[in-house]
Amino acid sequence: MRAMLFDLNRFLIGLSYAIDCVESELLGVTTNHGKRVAYISLRLAQAAGLDDAERFDIAACAILHDNGLAQENLSRPDLQQNRLRQVEDMPDHCDIGEANVSCFPFRSPARDIIKFHHEHWNGAGFFGMRGDAIPLMAQIIGLADFVDLKFRFENPDPGNRERIQAFVQEKRGSAFSPDLAALFEEVSQSTGFWLDLRNHNIQQALSRRTPHHAVEMPWSQVLEVCRAFSRIIDSKSRFTLRHSSGLEEKNGVMATHYGMSADDTLMLRTAAALHDVGKLSIPNAILDKPGKLTDLERARVQEHTYYTRQCLEPIPGFEVITEWAANHHEKLTGDGYPLRLPATALDFNARLMTVLDIYQALTEDRPYREGLTHTVTMEIIDRLTKSGELEPQIVEDVRRVMA
Ligand SMILES: [Fe+2]
Ligand SMILES: [Fe+2]
Ligand SMILES: [Fe+2]
Ligand SMILES: [Fe+2]
Repeated sequence: MRAMLFDLNRFLIGLSYAIDCVESELLGVTTNHGKRVAYISLRLAQAAGLDDAERFDIAACAILHDNGLAQENLSRPDLQQNRLRQVEDMPDHCDIGEANVSCFPFRSPARDIIKFHHEHWNGAGFFGMRGDAIPLMAQIIGLADFVDLKFRFENPDPGNRERIQAFVQEKRGSAFSPDLAALFEEVSQSTGFWLDLRNHNIQQALSRRTPHHAVEMPWSQVLEVCRAFSRIIDSKSRFTLRHSSGLEEKNGVMATHYGMSADDTLMLRTAAALHDVGKLSIPNAILDKPGKLTDLERARVQEHTYYTRQCLEPIPGFEVITEWAANHHEKLTGDGYPLRLPATALDFNARLMTVLDIYQALTEDRPYREGLTHTVTMEIIDRLTKSGELEPQIVEDVRRVMA
């Protein structure tokens, strides 16, 4: 089996866009929240003397700190408007978020960073941890998250900076440790700190400050890491709870049918696991809408594969995976979305992914209908094949193998 050099920095940056979308929808924070929390955390970590491995880990955990929000949101159908604000106020997302990243290749032995990101220095957090018993990296992310939720870092007014600095000092000894509050005072003195946090600068500033971490990994482990994200994607809506995992499984079954190599199969499954990562940018009000979508809403849904490409394209080694994942709504007739790619740009695996995505979606429940049977699903797929959208031979193979 081949290994691949997995560039975790590029992977995280790619996915941070999608994860930030969830938090900005649910909590109303401005875009780039995760990246700003990561940047502030890195500056504090550096000032606190944390080493390279720890600083990589703190950036990773900061980007992923609220990855459990979507799942917790789903488990609380009783909560209505503003429910995410309330979900953020409950400890489940900390446990879920920690569990989701358990297979992530962190560099330092530090653990439970995400789990304890809501602890307060004085013991008033979710789990009642207090003082130095709270892992330092969790304290740092906690401070960064707290200030970014409360203030708009985009606001260039110097008075805004002073208010943020004053707030941190005010919480010295209660929410934050006195040492950390002092470090924040120190790192926030420079104009560059505030400029780095602007939307136009944050990505470059974050990349510059994050220690690089690339690991030789077999594709089986890459898939494991990506599955954590597919769980986050699937839990965005209760109608897609098994969508990516089901699609991944079906791609595996078809890969065996076609006698694909072990590595090709794993890469195809990785593409399936991440194919709808762009859906994290679509509001639940649209994804879960029980009735017919308006033209505007449909157009918004169709944007998701554009963002899938945006997330995956920057990852070295993911070139073909990006194509298989992001082209699943392209058509052989050349009028699919979002790129209207011609059939010549769609290879066998991309065509397979498209057929299986339709199959998977039709057999799942939707807000407006129940999941369809194999027979009815194939009738619909046959119609699309007749109009030239899908590869007929693949459709025949899927009909037999999935029956
Ligand atoms: Fe949180
Ligand atoms: Fe947050
Ligand atoms: Fe899709
Ligand atoms: Fe899909």
